Amino acid sequence: MNILLTGASGFIGRNLATALTCAGHQIRPAMRGNGIDFRRMLAPADWLPHLRGIDTVINCVGIIGERAGQTFLALHAEAPAALFRACAVAGVRRVIQISALGADDTAFSAYHLSKQIADDCLRGLDLDWFVLRPSLIYGRGGGSAELLLRLARWPLLPVVDAGQQALQPVHISDVVATVLRCLDATTARQTLDIVGPETFSFADWLQKMRAARWLWERRFAA
Ligand SMILES: NC(=O)c1ccc[n+]([C@@H]2O[C@H](COP(=O)([O-])OP(=O)(O)OC[C@H]3O[C@@H](n4cnc5c(N)ncnc54)[C@H](OP(=O)(O)O)[C@@H]3O)[C@@H](O)[C@H]2O)c1
Repeated sequence: MNILLTGASGFIGRNLATALTCAGHQIRPAMRGNGIDFRRMLAPADWLPHLRGIDTVINCVGIIGERAGQTFLALHAEAPAALFRACAVAGVRRVIQISALGADDTAFSAYHLSKQIADDCLRGLDLDWFVLRPSLIYGRGGGSAELLLRLARWPLLPVVDAGQQALQPVHISDVVATVLRCLDATTARQTLDIVGPETFSFADWLQKMRAARWLWERRFAA
């Protein structure tokens, strides 16, 4: 299968590219490094030349904070919506959108609301779509996990509401396995939350990170 993979340089994108290549697929990476900047890909016509010969599109572009022209609206909503509409025009039937847990009717943050705009656009198109909503993803090289690992190093941490917010972290390998299943699933048009098997409070998860960091440092100091 020929797959256009956006965000191929990111944490999820890199892991997907490796797994998809190993599974025999041909990956066409779409990333700033090869001239595809979501800030300038806001109309379907911008995407059409990149969809020639493509069977499936996987969108893994995202930011967790806005800066220097990198807005949630452009990156999470407008550019993906243009890409999805271009898929409908170009006859690329299967589209897999990496959204985020919480991009639903309860969403209130700009991050989640902007994700939901693209998700809704995709769900409204006559395509074989999947909207995947992962929880916090952990694994080597993951930005959010690395940030928590760094925070866990501090002797004292200020946390909101005593850190009692519930998390169901999921390992990157489970996210990758879900995407691979979506490639040939016969029942498309699904919105799936991807969560790990255990629920932790934010404070407990930080403690786990702290212990993991301690073990990691001992192993490499030895
Ligand atoms: N990691 C998690 O815990 C988690 C959980 C739930 C949902 N998600 C969602 O999954 C997606 C990917 O997450 P990730 O962890 O892989 O993030 P990441 O490692 O930060 O990767 C983000 C990707 O987006 C690309 N990007 C940023 N700005 C761009 C632009 N203007 N034009 C084109 N590409 C641009 C980056 O490319 P450059 O190399 O050019 O910067 C990179 O490839 C995001 O939508 C995120 O919201 C992640």
